[in-house]
Amino acid sequence: MSDRLDISFAPLSADAEATTVVLSGEGLELGAKAKEIDSKSGGAIAKAAAAADYKGKLKSSIEILAPAKIGVERLIVAGFGKAASLNELQIVELGGAILGQIQARKCSSASLIVDVEGTDDIKAETLAALLAQGAQLRHYAFKKYLTKKNSDDANGDKAGLKKLVIHVAHPDKAKAAFQPLKAVVNGVNLARDLVNEPANILGPVELAEKTKALEKLGVDVEILDVGDMQKLKMGSLLCVGQGSERPSRMAVMVWNGAKGNKKAKPVCFVGKGVVFDTGGISIKGAAGMEDMKGDMGGAAAVIGVMHALAERKANVNAVGLIGCVENMPSGNAVRPGDIVTSMSGQTIEIINTDAEGRLVLADVLWYAQEKFKPKVVIDLATLTGAIMIALGKEYAGIFVNDDKLADELSSASKATGEKVWRMPLDKAFDKAMDSKNADMKNAGGRWAGAATAAAFLQRFVQKDTPWCHIDLAGTAMDGARSDINQSWGSGWGVRLLDRFVAEHHEKSEK
Ligand code: BES
Ligand code: MN
Ligand code: ZN
Repeated sequence: MSDRLDISFAPLSADAEATTVVLSGEGLELGAKAKEIDSKSGGAIAKAAAAADYKGKLKSSIEILAPAKIGVERLIVAGFGKAASLNELQIVELGGAILGQIQARKCSSASLIVDVEGTDDIKAETLAALLAQGAQLRHYAFKKYLTKKNSDDANGDKAGLKKLVIHVAHPDKAKAAFQPLKAVVNGVNLARDLVNEPANILGPVELAEKTKALEKLGVDVEILDVGDMQKLKMGSLLCVGQGSERPSRMAVMVWNGAKGNKKAKPVCFVGKGVVFDTGGISIKGAAGMEDMKGDMGGAAAVIGVMHALAERKANVNAVGLIGCVENMPSGNAVRPGDIVTSMSGQTIEIINTDAEGRLVLADVLWYAQEKFKPKVVIDLATLTGAIMIALGKEYAGIFVNDDKLADELSSASKATGEKVWRMPLDKAFDKAMDSKNADMKNAGGRWAGAATAAAFLQRFVQKDTPWCHIDLAGTAMDGARSDINQSWGSGWGVRLLDRFVAEHHEKSEK
């Protein structure tokens, strides 16, 4: 677990911490409180800005040490550019950037003065809450296994920043606005924790058990063991884990939050939870194999978004389902050439035991549709290396059988900065999965590996189910670090899907 950053909101009149951050717009436009600080200190801000040629551009900053007469040790002036045109995402990212500025200067507490009017669309208190969200996301670091106290961490943050006080005109309103945003942060950081956790600690049983923590938020959790899944005839999922000492599990999280219509069809999220992917008998090379502890990034995002929805009491019915397995070679492992029968009844010839994620998803997708008759299904999986060849590490690939769903996801993507790019579903890719010995094989040829994987999954999507497959192999772990993420396990997808639900599945269900 990461060290907590305690964020609180205080009035503008409250005493500021030794490290204080004030905001400035372009052309050194200062708010009332910053102006007061400037004049008290004999124009320290204006002088320093002139000396440093600081113009208040978005994410630029200057530092003034030991300014006279204002009782703080260090004043940071952080630019936000033109306030009127800032959007939510830019403000969240600014919050992250400011937190980074504070962390670079070793201090344990800081004040952030938000004395701006807000933007054209965003009130000052919401702006303060968005800054807080960015700060909280940026602060996350996976330090659980670092036992040497006071050693420099990745941020050079010696003792570590523990407390951030945000000073704003209406602290109570800002605090209220922060509640749902904080729920999302908690979901993201939960997903990050799960992805960062090594596989010796987080096996399939442990991953499934993690969902139990959501019960205290009002989520109903059911965990299916190997016997349960045998009864359901999940031969596809089960073959993946059969080489592991550690048994497979499926966890089902149900959030029935839709007001007025508890029976509304749910949105289903399905996650690939391969706690470690050695490749199995088709074993992977040694280089970088340690990264395969993150092959449950899809499941982590599903747990994270379910946490966010429940903590902020989202007005929606949503179900999260994760298939938890470990892909290991052993005398009992599934072999290339083996033929298994999925819960759908379709048979699969295993060509490559390293194409295991789709085998897990095949059965969980089928179960989700049979059991919940969802209005939409979105699966998340670190499914292919090929998606990184296509899109790199900043975009996830989305494969969607419904244009409206694709548009909704793109809109949520723009709002959150979690980038997605639509990839093709096509008969030609589907054909590549035909096998002469079974209904299909689990690996296509050399070309379009991400698209043939999606075509395989589509064989387990029922007619009329709006469905999206998100391949987040590039973004779930070791992606591009940003103002709001410095962690290897990124928690990617939680903000996207939370937003997707908020924009498209909450208001209409009243
Ligand atoms: N978990 C991997 C995909 C992956 C690779 C995720 C690198 C993150 C980083 C997946 O199970 C896999 O091994 N896919 C194979 C499929 C192939 C055998 C058809 C791949 O992409 O090479
Ligand atoms: Mn694999
Ligand atoms: Zn895998």
